[in-house]
Amino acid sequence: MIDFRPFYQQIATTSLSAWLETLPLQLKQWKKQAHGDYAKWAKIVSFLPDYSAEIDLREKVEAKLASPLSEGETQHLVYHLKQLMPWRKGPYHLYGVHIDCEWRSDFKWDRVLPHLSPLKDRTILDVGCGSGYHMWRMVGEGAKMVVGIDPTELFLCQFEAVRKLLNNDRRANLIPLGIEQMQPLHAFDTVFSMGVLYHRKSPLDHLSQLKNQLVKGGELVLETLVIDGGVNDVLVPADRYAKMKNVYFIPSVAALINWLEKVGFKNVRCVDEAVTTLEEQRKTDWLENESLIDFLDPNNHSKTIEGYPAPKRAVIIANNP
Ligand SMILES: C[S@@+](CC[C@H](N)C(=O)[O-])C[C@H]1O[C@@H](n2cnc3c(N)ncnc32)[C@H](O)[C@@H]1O
Repeated sequence: MIDFRPFYQQIATTSLSAWLETLPLQLKQWKKQAHGDYAKWAKIVSFLPDYSAEIDLREKVEAKLASPLSEGETQHLVYHLKQLMPWRKGPYHLYGVHIDCEWRSDFKWDRVLPHLSPLKDRTILDVGCGSGYHMWRMVGEGAKMVVGIDPTELFLCQFEAVRKLLNNDRRANLIPLGIEQMQPLHAFDTVFSMGVLYHRKSPLDHLSQLKNQLVKGGELVLETLVIDGGVNDVLVPADRYAKMKNVYFIPSVAALINWLEKVGFKNVRCVDEAVTTLEEQRKTDWLENESLIDFLDPNNHSKTIEGYPAPKRAVIIANNP
């Protein structure tokens, strides 16, 4: 089972120490209700080898040894990692094994990184971090500490698997809760929320919850689905959007900026807009599920299969005054 005590020790003497008032009890409760397969997934992590590797987190997420693994060792690694499928966010390059995830999360990182205040020495929260790909890239940029929060247990186990294979690096940690369960800490220099807002039933509450985690002057990095349109244009899909059941609000960039200003953010600016391509989200050997090609109208890729505008994403940066 995954042990959170090293994280508690790590934060005890930092600006995150107030979290110890609620977190250990919440995680105790969480363990009791965790996904039925959590114990199995956590066991797979424990089967992974402890190598001492050369790590690159700046250009990609890679671990390698001076001499490559044998055929048998590679098969052993692939066998265990494939039991943690589907791998959605990546890619990871671990000892010659290329975990070619559904998403090229490096594409998103390349769109976001040029616009950020330097991450060096910052304490960072990544809300909805998935398997943690972007957290490792934040560590690669010199962050002091990165905390991810994501309630999906499989992603926690994927994160712990990658962490183990990255020399058990503790500069990043994943807490398996939802953002709404976090007490307001006002302690993070940068808060990321990427790919989460449209999954939230109450988007303004989500924005306030993000604000509550930032220090004064801290930076929010918000990445989400958007539509074209003006300040009052918001798509609320009738049923599914791109086959997803849990998509609630897709605003225009102008509407999103208005929401952020309404909850008190300042200096709100959109730094990037990009239509999601079939190179960025696609089927690979590391997932059995459908992918973007199956979510689009086969005769018109500018529409989803339901007839909505195809996925387009924006990156918004804002400050907590
Ligand atoms: C589309 S993925 C985005 C992953 C990653 N941030 C990225 O941009 O590639 C959305 C993630 O949000 C997580 N999530 C869903 N509800 C959440 C909540 N209430 N608080 C935090 N994360 C949540 C999901 O488990 C999932 O990993």
